[in-house]
Amino acid sequence: MKIGALSGKATRVKTDALVLGIFEGDAKLPKLAEALDKAAGGVVSDVLARREFTGKPNQVIYLPAGRNVAASRIVLTGLGKREEYNPEKARQAAGKASTFCREWNLKEVVVWLDVFLDSTVAFEEVVVALVEGAILSLYRFIKYKTDEEEQQKEIARLRVLTENRRQLAPLKKAVAYAELTSQAANRARDLTNAPSNEVTPAALADYARRLSRRATLKCRVMGPAELKRRNMNGILGVGKGSCNSPRFIILEHVPRRPAAGPIVLIGKGITFDSGGISIKPSAKMDEMKGDMAGAAAVLCTLDVVSQLNLPLHVVGLVPAAENLPSGTAYKPGDILRTASGKTVEILSTDAEGRLLLADALHYASRYKPEAVIDLATLTGACVIALGEHASGLLGTDRTLIERIKRAAELTWERVWELPLWDDYAETLKSEVADTTNTGGRPAQAIVAAKFLQKFIGDYPWTHIDIAGTAGIEKEKPYNPKGATGVGVRLLSRLLTQWQE
Ligand code: BES
Ligand code: MN
Ligand code: ZN
Repeated sequence: MKIGALSGKATRVKTDALVLGIFEGDAKLPKLAEALDKAAGGVVSDVLARREFTGKPNQVIYLPAGRNVAASRIVLTGLGKREEYNPEKARQAAGKASTFCREWNLKEVVVWLDVFLDSTVAFEEVVVALVEGAILSLYRFIKYKTDEEEQQKEIARLRVLTENRRQLAPLKKAVAYAELTSQAANRARDLTNAPSNEVTPAALADYARRLSRRATLKCRVMGPAELKRRNMNGILGVGKGSCNSPRFIILEHVPRRPAAGPIVLIGKGITFDSGGISIKPSAKMDEMKGDMAGAAAVLCTLDVVSQLNLPLHVVGLVPAAENLPSGTAYKPGDILRTASGKTVEILSTDAEGRLLLADALHYASRYKPEAVIDLATLTGACVIALGEHASGLLGTDRTLIERIKRAAELTWERVWELPLWDDYAETLKSEVADTTNTGGRPAQAIVAAKFLQKFIGDYPWTHIDIAGTAGIEKEKPYNPKGATGVGVRLLSRLLTQWQE
């Protein structure tokens, strides 16, 4: 789908569908839409007067535009109450309208920005939200569907319209930003949805290498031999049970003159988590092909950072392995000596993500980073606590935590902070090693973060547990069932605004 921006009169734009946002409870059409309504013979004011369309969120309808309007159809999409308006409402409304237009097999869509604006929200935020809502909602994972019909319905071009010619330049800029980040989020969804027979640790490394064809990106991949030399036994231990051997991927954005950084992003890259010898129940085990959503988010964020050529040194670290039970697998009771030298007594081979992350967090120290952020589908407990609506956020640095919260509100990839009190580390005491890898049932999301904290260096650190947000079971207005690509828009926004 081609994405663009244009300025001109709404009545004059030739397109299959002109999309208008309507606020719930607005008795009349906004002034600026009156001319269009009049030209269309009053079709919009009529459905509003008859209350056939009320502007409730998720409501969408199309009306023939008549001969005096260049567009063939007017599509109305509900924005909810004006007092409750925010960019997320625009994102969802654009998502609904876009999938609706695709359903009707419309090829050309124009979203009329002006009617989505409100004095309480920033212009750029609304533009970004509209474009994100459209691109994210139209995502489908149909690569493996051989039946062609499914693939034919596609919107060919979507443009954002302003009647205010002076706004065209900032509009274009915001559209380009949103196109970049949401396409990257869709690529992260592709990686996460793809099955583990295709996305092995080696395949993740190949993906990173392909991204590094971009001018500013450097990629380096360590295989099992180098991991052994570097004592990265957390990663090696987890990967031992599989013939798809582990990798440690480094994808780095090095601008000519970095103004800040390094900022290190770490993504958990378990390409399949069976639980290992502490095997998981078989129901829904297929979902564990998505246990590399953190890795996908980090790699695709680096792609964005590089295309924006941000003046920051950003390093992506992805420890990748497959967690399987076998005659060579690591076992409960085993003791692993991690790269940091700290030893870990394994109580459950299903608490594997933290072992990979331990080695990566230790490795991050060498960059003397300004900040380290890890993203991981780390605990089922986080899903129980926050569901699919928020990721768990824990960290050692107030400024970094607050920055992440702000970016999360803007992108609506919301986070919720959990306490990182030392009391939560008590259950990790081991009689035979420096620490165990699990601490029993209570507060597992926090205990997992306390485990990670034992391996961080002297740098500001936050951990984002995306176990609940990385994939959803029921579709949302701009998210079909399956992977969400969570983290890409959040991290991209955080890094874009880093020096503000
Ligand atoms: N990858 C899982 C966590 C997970 C669960 C992600 C559900 C997405 C959806 C992780 O490796 C895991 O198995 N965690 C265990 C830890 C336990 C053994 C301490 C868990 O949460 O049950
Ligand atoms: Mn596990
Ligand atoms: Zn896992």
